[in-house]
Amino acid sequence: MLVTGGAGFIGANFVHYTVRNHPDYEVTVLDALTYAGNQASLDPVAGRVRFVRGNILDAPLVNRLVADSDIVVHFAAESHVDNSLAGPAAFIQTNIVGTYTILEAVREHGVRLHHISTDEVFGDLALEGTDKFTEQTAYDPSSPYSASKAASDLLVRAWVRSYGITATLSNCANNYGPYQHVEKLIPRQVTNVLTGQRLKLYGEGLNVREWTHVDDHNAAVHLILDRGRSGETYLIGSGDERSNRQIIEAILAAMDQPADAFDFVPDRPGHDLRYSNDSAKIRAELGWAPVYGDFREGLAATIDWYRANEWWWKPQKAATEARYAALNR
Ligand code: NAD
Ligand code: DAU
Repeated sequence: MLVTGGAGFIGANFVHYTVRNHPDYEVTVLDALTYAGNQASLDPVAGRVRFVRGNILDAPLVNRLVADSDIVVHFAAESHVDNSLAGPAAFIQTNIVGTYTILEAVREHGVRLHHISTDEVFGDLALEGTDKFTEQTAYDPSSPYSASKAASDLLVRAWVRSYGITATLSNCANNYGPYQHVEKLIPRQVTNVLTGQRLKLYGEGLNVREWTHVDDHNAAVHLILDRGRSGETYLIGSGDERSNRQIIEAILAAMDQPADAFDFVPDRPGHDLRYSNDSAKIRAELGWAPVYGDFREGLAATIDWYRANEWWWKPQKAATEARYAALNR
């Protein structure tokens, strides 16, 4: 199995999950180790995994690695919306051209692909509604990040239809858990508390996200690898929707901080209001259900992980906050 982006947040957790639960796979990770990648995230499985530092835009390298694989799980991406607003170029290259590079290699070698995507390709839902995205929802991305992910999904679908490659897609909502970069909402706020800084809430903090534990996401990916149908898209989501303000309040409470220890900061341009996935298809067809039913428990374990692993996140913290300071966020 070739795992692209396996030194990133979800990819590294996927490799851990695979080694733990599917030891029959021989795993090779291909990762460029951008600012978001950290090879140390793979330390606990280092003896069980081959690591190749390289770029998915390097077609000859991708071709060689794909030729040696039976299956490719494609996580590698530029993943952060704020970064895409500040500088979209890398998103076009990695997310669109990089996915094209993978597609051409899997086409040449007849290798099966699973493409990891996001619910952000659908745009957003009204704050006050209870409707959800489904596999049939029209694509309507808002940011350069989500537009580049939408483009990559459409390329995968076109390669299935026109060239007959074997590929599946999944679109998950927001993930949380260990090894997530400190630029993302939950790790940023937790490490703000741990470094004596105030928490930062965009706009009025009303925007809603659906939170899925990273292991639940990765369990779903394995079900799709085992029994998913080629050409099909599967939406993944826990059903646990929370506003950003509720998340911040939960973090402050869990870390014994005053309830008002946060600042409102200028909003993200084009900020999507609400995400919510209807995951009925993967639940009915593949029997997926989240194991992390209690968000507060999952959050507490995630906070404990950041407390215990300062060595992992501390080196990234100052540079990340400097990037936010430049954006006034
Ligand atoms: P991440 O930013 O933590 O990790 C991305 C990884 O890809 C890093 O290790 C980075 O070094 C690597 N990478 C980036 N550009 C590369 C390139 N050109 N060549 C090789 N490697 C490269 O991202 P994440 O949060 O783990 O997201 C992984 C995937 O899951 C992405 O495709 C993202 O769109 C999708 N996704 C993320 C979430 C979420 O909540 N984080 C939710 C749904 C879907
Ligand atoms: O829905 C899936 C997507 O979830 C993935 O495709 C993306 O890769 C992933 O980054 C995530 O995107 P979001 O933009 O939803 O995540 P982020 O952690 O950046 O922000 C979550 C929400 O919190 C969002 O509404 C913005 C807000 N926010 C974020 C930060 C970093 C704040 O209020 N304060 C902050 O400091």
